[in-house]
Amino acid sequence: MNKVYVIGVGMSKFIKPRGEVDYPEFGLEAAVKALNDCGLTYDAIEFAACGYVYGDSTCGQRVLYQLGMTQIPVINVNNNCSTGSTALLQARNAVASGTVQCAMALGFERMERGSLKSKWADRTSPLDHVYQVIKSTQGLDPKAPGAAQIFGRAGEAYIKQYGATPTHLAKIAEKNHRHSIKNPYSQFQDVYSLEQIQQSPTIYGPLTKLQCCPTSDGAGCAIVASEAFVKQHGLWDQAVEIVAQVMATDSPDMLSKNPIEWAGVDMTRRAARQAYQQAGITPSDVQVVELHDCFSANELLSYDGLGLTAPGKAHTLIDNGDNTYGGKYVVNPSGGLISKGHPLGATGLAQCSELVWQARQWAGDRQVPNVKYALQHNVGLGGAVVVTVYKKASDTYAAPRTDYNPAVEARPIRQVDYEQAKSKTRAEFLEAKL
Ligand SMILES: CC(C)(COP(=O)(O)OP(=O)(O)OC[C@H]1O[C@@H](n2cnc3c(N)ncnc32)[C@H](O)[C@@H]1OP(=O)(O)O)[C@@H](O)C(=O)NCCC(=O)NCCS
Repeated sequence: MNKVYVIGVGMSKFIKPRGEVDYPEFGLEAAVKALNDCGLTYDAIEFAACGYVYGDSTCGQRVLYQLGMTQIPVINVNNNCSTGSTALLQARNAVASGTVQCAMALGFERMERGSLKSKWADRTSPLDHVYQVIKSTQGLDPKAPGAAQIFGRAGEAYIKQYGATPTHLAKIAEKNHRHSIKNPYSQFQDVYSLEQIQQSPTIYGPLTKLQCCPTSDGAGCAIVASEAFVKQHGLWDQAVEIVAQVMATDSPDMLSKNPIEWAGVDMTRRAARQAYQQAGITPSDVQVVELHDCFSANELLSYDGLGLTAPGKAHTLIDNGDNTYGGKYVVNPSGGLISKGHPLGATGLAQCSELVWQARQWAGDRQVPNVKYALQHNVGLGGAVVVTVYKKASDTYAAPRTDYNPAVEARPIRQVDYEQAKSKTRAEFLEAKL
């Protein structure tokens, strides 16, 4: 495997689903920003993996043709909530295998208000087995959203089995909302007291509305390249190495009677263990974590699954203040999915953007001190998890080459940004709406 570096990242602001902006515009914005970030044009991209969950096939091509019909291979990826990091894994593998020198991972999504619903009611749900187990053990609540039930029941079980409390879950949401006020890309940027979080409407079990991620529209993008490419293009002062990346899918534990396992914790455990091994580190070497807090309960479970605490001790991380600034780790400095939003295909690439900015020390007043290793965790029910470890590749990073710092300002793209990023060959373009 060749070494792989993230050289460019970019994202749109995540927003409430309103239907006013379409996916080609979101996707273009993130792709242009990532290309501007590393000063390349689309001609440098030899392979692209595009992630989205809701949309017809080949939306990736529809987005990228706005940058030029350069005839590169484009793969469209759908892996539920881990779609964005699955696209990143595809792009990384293309470079790591030596197939290409430079690849793009792009994720975008347009969602609807309210909770997630199946678009394919006439066929078998990919989650039918886990719903069957829930039905036969605890019974399904027909009124509560399916995902909230799975994660809510897992949280309840962790509380019962290990002595955590519902207050621990509310504290996670309080922290992530507090972090979000410093992230201009975040859908919500509001501070809430613990009481406000606890008193917001109950969605399922211990989970109140302010402990759930909303539905969102938006896009994220990362450009990855080989060591030779980084050297050739003089990009060392903005490259961040991916030192480990592991995808795992469910084990039969997912079908056990233990609700903790319904949320995919076993996938996380196995992927994390392998990722630390690949990186040659232990969890204690990490300073900053972007993890999959789709519901506060899943952040709690993930502390345990990712080995940030001893098994059964996830709540002690909260009690000791070791999940925020001043503690051992800063978890979800971006505000996490709970505040930043969760456009399924984009989330993994937004996590990547945040961690790259953190590694480059560009994150302004949400900067985590002394970042050397950063950990990313993105999980989709059904299921797939991707755990990625990033490492600083330079002692000093250059200032942004754009005329503003994209880590602390969420600007729309301008015609000049697009002109800089688009293909300069004789390729044709689909019309781009900026
Ligand atoms: C939490 C949830 C049940 C709320 O549903 P809802 O109240 O019907 O949500 P709507 O989209 O109709 O929004 C109603 C209002 O609540 C706000 N809202 C929605 N979800 C919110 C959340 N999680 N936190 C704060 N506000 C939220 C909306 O912005 C909207 O505000 P507005 O009226 O001022 O515009 C829903 O957002 C949900 O199911 N989230 C989880 C999504 C999910 O499962 N993702 C995959 C995870 S694995």
